[in-house]
Parts: sequence; C-alpha cells; structure tokens
Amino acid sequence: MIKERIQELMTQVQQMQAQSAEQMEALRIKYLSKKGEITELFNQFREVPKEEKKELGMQLNALRQMAESRLQEMREAFEAQRAAEDKPDLTRTPEPIALGTRHPLSLTKEEIVDIFSRLGFTVAEGPEVEDDKHVFGMLNFAPEHPARDMQDTFFVEKEEGVQKPTDILLRTHTSSVQTRVMTSQKPPIRVLCPGRVYRNEAISARAHCFFHQVEGLYIDKNVSFADLRQALMYFAKEMFGPDTKIRLRPSYFPFTEPSAEMDISCNICGGTGCGFCKQTGWVEILGCGMVDPNVLESCGIDSKEYSGYAFGMGVERITNLKYRVKDLRLFSENDVRFLQQFESC
Ligand code: PHE
Repeated sequence: MIKERIQELMTQVQQMQAQSAEQMEALRIKYLSKKGEITELFNQFREVPKEEKKELGMQLNALRQMAESRLQEMREAFEAQRAAEDKPDLTRTPEPIALGTRHPLSLTKEEIVDIFSRLGFTVAEGPEVEDDKHVFGMLNFAPEHPARDMQDTFFVEKEEGVQKPTDILLRTHTSSVQTRVMTSQKPPIRVLCPGRVYRNEAISARAHCFFHQVEGLYIDKNVSFADLRQALMYFAKEMFGPDTKIRLRPSYFPFTEPSAEMDISCNICGGTGCGFCKQTGWVEILGCGMVDPNVLESCGIDSKEYSGYAFGMGVERITNLKYRVKDLRLFSENDVRFLQQFESC
C-alpha cells in the first residue's frame, strides 16, 4: 500500500510545475507541510512491519529529498527570473526598522503623572497661546508685576508689526490651565497640568526660552498645608528613591499664601555635598503653596468653604536630576546620538 503510494507521489513530484511563487508555495504545502501528503506517509511509516522498514524508509527519504530539491530548483528559477526582470524581492526579510526612542522629557513627565495619579490626580490640558486673564489676572498678579513685562513674557502681536498693547501671550506657566479648570469645574478638584511654557530668556546651558512644567492643584474642604507636604514627600520618594529627604523653604508666589519652595536631598551625592548641589546637599525642585483665597474667589470658588494647595515643577530640572543631563539645549536639538541613549528606558 504505502509502497505504491510512494511510487505515485514520486511521479507527481517529478512532474510538479508552478507558474508563480504562490503556486510553488501551494505545492510545498500539499506535499511537505505538517499535513502534507509526504509527511502523512512518514506518519503511516510507523506502522510498517519491521522487515519492510529499511527499504521503505530509504524510498520515503528519497521521495522527500526529491520534493525538496524540486521545490528548491523552482525557487531558484523564480528568483533568477525576478532578478532578470529587476523586480523588488517582496519575500526578502526586511531591514530592521530603527524604532524611535521616547524623549527623556516625556519619560520624566509620564513618571510624574503616574506617581500623582496614584494619589487621585488626573491630567488637564489647555492652550499654549493664552490671554493675560488666565495666566496672570485671575492668579492675583498685580497689574505692574514684572512677569507682565515684555522682558519676561512673549506677547503675541495681533497684527503683524503692531506692538503692544495686546493681552494675548505665550503662557509662562501651566497655572493657566488651573484657572481654566477652576472656572469650569466644581470642587473637589484634583488635577495635574503638564505642558510646554515660554519665557523670554537668553538661551544657554541653564536657561531656555521654552521648557516644560507639571503643575498640580487640589481643592476641597479642609485641605491643609500638611496634606501638601505629605503629597510632595510621597512624590519625592517615589521619584528619587525611599531615602530622599525634602525641605520646604518659605517663598513667594502671587497665587499662593503661604508659599514655599521645595528642596530634595541631592540625589547625586546623597546629601553630603557635591558640585551639582553646590556643596549644600540640597537641590530645589519645585514651588508650591496654599491657593490664595483671592485666586479661589476670582475663579468663582467660595474661599470660606474650600481651600486648596498647588505646586509646580520644571520637567527639565527633574530630568537633569534623574538622568544627569547638563545642558538644557540637548532636549530640543533632536540629536539622535543624545536621544538614543534613552532607548532602553
Ligand atoms: N507657577 C509657578 C511657576 O511657574 C510654580 C508654582 C505653581 C508655584 C503652583 C506655586 C504653586 O514658577
């Protein structure tokens, strides 16, 4: 039985013809795939009586070899034909695709957002081209505050060549998103505002005319400074490791009262003092404070019923601390040699 079948298949294989690569593949499947006819014979071969095994085995192997070499011949013929016609070889293994890498600032931003999301914060976004009201006015900036000066803020000219007065500007902080959230949502509010901000600074290794922030805002009944401190301590330890210490120094922002700046123990020297922390053992990473009642009121929130805290940090600064990037300009030059270093992050 099996012997006759081998003979039959031998004849078929000898006569095999294919007009195209697809037909050739169909033949391979018909005879040699897992369920192919030749493979099937190999399965049946297990039941062949011992004395016939040797002879039949040799024949079977010869059959398989014949099928394989016939297919190989055909394949070569097709390839030669295709090369002659100069067609691209669509069956060739592709070149490895160079996948892009995630930008270090995105990595840091995502990590910050991830940490605060564990405390219940969600992300809010807003426009980069803003008006004076949302960036300064509702945030308790006095009319003569220097930030409102062209020295510090980029104003957008309404018509070409027409200088100030205009109240359209590039936002200098993402607190503008907070004002938008406060005017459109009712407390409790717990949002993070990541985004790009612009300031009129000369570009150097340590300053740039745009950078990125993540600001946070929490408004509810009975929110206290202790809540703020607790949230920031949690953030610092999650971001920089469990041994990180924090320190809050009194500061001033128009929109918070009291205000503070937060330092963390230098994560480069561990707090013993090094060039990075200017031998102090501390590095400043963010500004924060209790939302000024004037701000709540100007956004339509009753400051007798609600209180809140806010904080804001520069993503570049946190990235520098995490990945030791010394020159800010590297973040926006798109030099792949720099970006590729974050490939495995
Ligand atoms: N908006 C401040 C800045 O851009 C940061 C900040 C946010 C400070 C919230 C206090 C509270 O510098």
